[in-house]
Formats: sequence, structure tokens, C-alpha cells
Amino acid sequence: MGLPTETVYGLAADASNAQALERLYEAKGRPRGHPVIVHLANAEQLPHWARDVPQAARELARAFWPGPLTLVLKRSPDVLEAVTGGADTVALRVPAHPLAHAVLEAFSEARAGAPAGLAMPSANRFGRVSPTTAQHVVEDLGAAVDLVLDGGACEVGIESTIVDLSGDHPALLRPGGIQRAQIEKVLGAPLAEPTSGAPQVPGSLPTHYAPRARMQLVSRRQIIDAIATNRSKRIAVLALEVSVARLPAAQAVVVPAIAAVYARSLYANLRALDATGADVILVEMPPQTPAWAGVLDRLRRAAGAAKAEG
Ligand code: TXA
Ligand code: MG
Repeated sequence: MGLPTETVYGLAADASNAQALERLYEAKGRPRGHPVIVHLANAEQLPHWARDVPQAARELARAFWPGPLTLVLKRSPDVLEAVTGGADTVALRVPAHPLAHAVLEAFSEARAGAPAGLAMPSANRFGRVSPTTAQHVVEDLGAAVDLVLDGGACEVGIESTIVDLSGDHPALLRPGGIQRAQIEKVLGAPLAEPTSGAPQVPGSLPTHYAPRARMQLVSRRQIIDAIATNRSKRIAVLALEVSVARLPAAQAVVVPAIAAVYARSLYANLRALDATGADVILVEMPPQTPAWAGVLDRLRRAAGAAKAEG
């Protein structure tokens, strides 16, 4: 089932059902061995899934759940290998979207005290831009998914922030909906960068979040020059409202230079620009400040992947 969350749409399967997980991987075209996030109705369900839950995890849960934060914790012995990808950890999140929450509540009631978690990767084909509307899910997964609940466009627009609390020091695995500084404030300590021994995060592969067209992160000047000197290429542009007033002869989307607003429409904009059939998508480099960390991460990966493919 396709289900809206406040970050992106997820594809949901009972995290305690190996067959359901098998179908989930199949529908996404996702290689096995990549762990998924288990979504819960509330933080009280943590002990079903995680063991040795540190105080820091409880504090972050209290501060940010329900919301766009995922916690990686030591897994409890019953968690299926299809969920953890064979790792000794499990990723958990309590989403804030009312529809996701209602489904999780109902699932949890039906389970009557037994573990009730929904494995929910983003509902896109593996390696593509995440969906932020029900329509995106249908376009990507089509017949592979029997039901999509339409909760409108996602409010956050990029995936949750992932913090690993399974090691000696809390580490930031993926920037996202909640900012690093917000987390560090609750922890009262800086977040470490992930260690090399940490499990492979698919989002950290360069082929992630990629549109089909070649995508480049460039300055405003480079966009203007590229359009002025262009002879044959079909150029699409994602620009910032503050700097580019008018862009002739290009498919252009102009977005306010406010990180949260930009994030909300980012994936829909990349999909729309890609759908113009452009040869190249020029994306104006947003400000390189902490507020933009999640957006910059997704843009760099998308641009990096496009380059690698030529
Ligand atoms: O906002 C989100 O997190 C969305 C919505 C649907 O909740 N979900 C999402 O799922 O982005 P997915 O599968 O596209 O990305 C999950 C990320 C992957 O990068 C995965 O490697 C990482 O979480 N992950 C899952 N379990 C992990 C674990 N035990 N240790 C480290 N990383 C883990
Ligand atoms: Mg994903």
C-alpha cells in the first residue's frame, strides 16, 4: 500500500511478515540487503523492535516524534533480517502525517499488543526521485501497488533525518527534515559523522534521487551564459526566486530561496523538469548553509549520479 507521510510517500508492508517484505522489495525493484525503516504508531512500541535503548534516543523521540526523524538502534532479536538487511541495528520512526498515523493506529489495535510496525521505504522505483504525491507513486510503481492513499502533497518534501544511536557516539547518517543543530541541542553534544563500519545507506549511493536528464549544480551566471550561448540543447532550469528574474528560452521553474519551501517542491520540480524531455537540468546552487543541508545532499547526489551516467 502506498501511504503518505510528512516527508515523502512510502510503500508499506507489515514489518513482521517476511512474504509482505518480499513483495515490497519486488515492487520497488530494490536489491536485497538494503535495510528499511520500520514506522510505529508511537514511541511506546520501541521495546518491541530495539534493545538497550539509550536515554538519548528517548529524548530525541520525545522532542521530534511524531516527525521526520529516524533513529537507528540496536535491534531486538525478533526483527526480521529482511528489515535490517542483516545488520545488528534497526531504523525506527513515528511519522506525523495524519493518514500514516491513522493507519498505524488501526494496525496496532488490530495486533492487540503484538508488534505492529510498517516497513516503509520511499514509494519510488529503486534509485529514482522519491514521490511526494499519490500521482508520483502511481507513475512509478503502477500495477505493482494495489492501493495508494492520497493525502495530498507531502509537507516536508525530502526524507527524514537519520541518526544512528547504536554506537558509542550519536552520528548523522542522512540530513533531512530535522536539522543537525536541532538534534545537537537536544543531545547537548555534537553529532559525529558516520563511521566507515556503519551499514551502507542506499541514500548514500550516488545513483540515488536521480532524474533521467543530466543534472548540474551551477551558479546563476553559468545558467545565464548557458542559455545565451546554447544552440541545440534543450535546457531546463531550477532557479532561486531571489536571483533569477526572467529566463528566456528555457523550461524554467523558479522557487523561493527558503529551504523548507524549496524542499517541499524539490522532487515534484525535478520530475516536472525531467518530463519536459530536456537534455540537461541546470540547478542553481542554493545557499550552502545548515538550513539547506538536506536539500544540498539530495541535489549533489542527483547531479553526481547524472554525471556518472554521462
Ligand atoms: O522519510 C523517510 O524516511 C521515508 C518515509 C517513507 O518515511 N522513508 C525512506 O525510506 O526514506 P528509504 O527506504 O527510502 O530510506 C531509508 C534509509 C535508507 O537509506 C536505509 O539504508 C536507511 O534508511 N536504514 C534503514 N535501516 C537502517 C539501519 N539499520 N542502519 C542504517 N541505516 C538504515
Ligand atoms: Mg528512498
